[in-house]
Amino acid sequence: MRTQIVAGNWKMNKNLEETEVLLSELSAKLPDTNAEVIVAPTFVNLPLAVNHLQNSVIQVAAQNMHFAESGAYTGEISADMLLNIGVETVILGHSERRAYFGEDDALLTQKVDAALAKNMRVIFCFGEELGERKSGGHFEVVENQLKNAIFHLEKEQWKNIILAYEPVWAIGTGETATPEQAQEMHAFIRKTIEEAYDEEVAAGVTILYGGSVKPGNAEEIFSKPDVDGGLIGGASLKCDDFTTIIKAI
Ligand code: PGA
Repeated sequence: MRTQIVAGNWKMNKNLEETEVLLSELSAKLPDTNAEVIVAPTFVNLPLAVNHLQNSVIQVAAQNMHFAESGAYTGEISADMLLNIGVETVILGHSERRAYFGEDDALLTQKVDAALAKNMRVIFCFGEELGERKSGGHFEVVENQLKNAIFHLEKEQWKNIILAYEPVWAIGTGETATPEQAQEMHAFIRKTIEEAYDEEVAAGVTILYGGSVKPGNAEEIFSKPDVDGGLIGGASLKCDDFTTIIKAI
């Protein structure tokens, strides 16, 4: 059985006090679940989150990191800095990083390698844009994103990889892929991994769906056999919405 995960990507939201409030609410109301629950607050609030969740099953992830160990990279954060405060999981390749900060496959390869070299877990995000889906190029785009950034990894490194398929047209737009579209793409991703590696890697990797997952649609999306959970943006900022989504899995 693959690990099921519900992860909340808080993006650039919640100040210190608001972070504390949401963490307290989540700790108090966390439903019983076999799924792993992860939250990814902004960098400045990571130490607070780690301390706050010390006795909780909720894990903490960073939203990004730099590939270098240290040095003259103003404004950046390294894997060692994250590990030093107890953060062992990092989201890489989010479409907002790709679109607004110019992160491409080559850069993401360096980041993935740097994180895995430190034994961190990577939530690797990818997905097609609207035009690419409309023209029918979405499978090819997704295959290339995977091939270019992570198919150089050794088989055993895949135990630290979590995939998050996030069609760009569904992120923060209120537009969700249908459960059938999600399942179709997740099955394609698994088949592509099986061809590049083997059945064991393909069957073992957790593939999350992301893009306007809400309390009202989570259950149907999560019911699909190749969807192993979700990466949740907007709906992870409200305790009730996020816990309802956790219950849906
Ligand atoms: P959304 O964001 O749930 O607000 O669409 C998902 C994401 O960006 O990970």
